[in-house]
Amino acid sequence: VIWRCPKCKGLFVEQGSSLICENGHSFDRARQGYVHLLLANQKASREPGDNETMISARRHFLSADFYAPLVEEIVGLVPCDKGGLSLLDLGCGEGHYLQSVVQGVSSDLEYCHGYGVDISKPAVRKAASSYKMSALASETRKLDYAVASSVRVPADDACVDGILVVFAPCEASEIVRLLKPDGFFIQVSPGPKHLYELKECIYPEVKLHSQPPLPEGMSLRAQNRLNYSISIESRPVLESLLEMTPFTWRGNREAKSALLDKGTLQLEIDFIIQVATPIQLK
Ligand SMILES: C[S@@+](CC[C@H](N)C(=O)[O-])C[C@H]1O[C@@H](n2cnc3c(N)ncnc32)[C@H](O)[C@@H]1O
Ligand SMILES: [Zn+2]
Repeated sequence: VIWRCPKCKGLFVEQGSSLICENGHSFDRARQGYVHLLLANQKASREPGDNETMISARRHFLSADFYAPLVEEIVGLVPCDKGGLSLLDLGCGEGHYLQSVVQGVSSDLEYCHGYGVDISKPAVRKAASSYKMSALASETRKLDYAVASSVRVPADDACVDGILVVFAPCEASEIVRLLKPDGFFIQVSPGPKHLYELKECIYPEVKLHSQPPLPEGMSLRAQNRLNYSISIESRPVLESLLEMTPFTWRGNREAKSALLDKGTLQLEIDFIIQVATPIQLK
């Protein structure tokens, strides 16, 4: 495992279903296989991160495959010339992207090990349980999940080949610390027109997303825009889309219920995908 003890940064050994560090701090794996490495003093609230309702809504929406082109795009950007690969997904949510990417990468890769971190326990629980129920696990394709914060990731320096961040906050110094010197970083952010028609329905004025910043210490290698339109024709899917986004709390309530009553929406999807590498200090 790449995980390090969140209390003392010590190395872990696996003993049964526990991770025990060299200083005797012990963390049990949950039934679903994930490990909880977020210390009480690292929490800003009792249940940080996305809540159960948002996680279930995101799972429901993503499983309708409207964002399948994004998975394909990410898979295409993962370098396959390295023999094997370790990939860390920060703010991995319910695990849709990490699992799909590890499943989708070229069979030329001898191995691909994915690690997912999210501060939300319900998110990590769902991600780990999907992996457990999938037929993905093998010596060459494996996933491991931890409840932890992207601000202080309990993992070793230079421990992964790649870091993925999809619509999640991240900390520049951690990205630089965790990546191997020849590592890569893939960041997905909303493009200017992402979900434009939805916002038009519920906000009096729509602000376009601006150019996403890259973490300091990283140098941009490529920036792609993935832009297409989808047609949602199911009220439950629309409900999930509203619930998984900040629209749950914001926006005009009547406008939202009118939209749900209509039950259909033609919608623009707009992603910016940035690939970056650490700036090498001489
Ligand atoms: C918009 S969701 C994106 C989830 C996933 N990457 C996806 O695209 O489906 C943002 C995620 O970041 C997580 N998050 C927020 N702050 C975090 C932090 N400090 N450390 C780790 N995860 C965090 C939330 O719990 C949530 O799952
Ligand atoms: Zn320890």
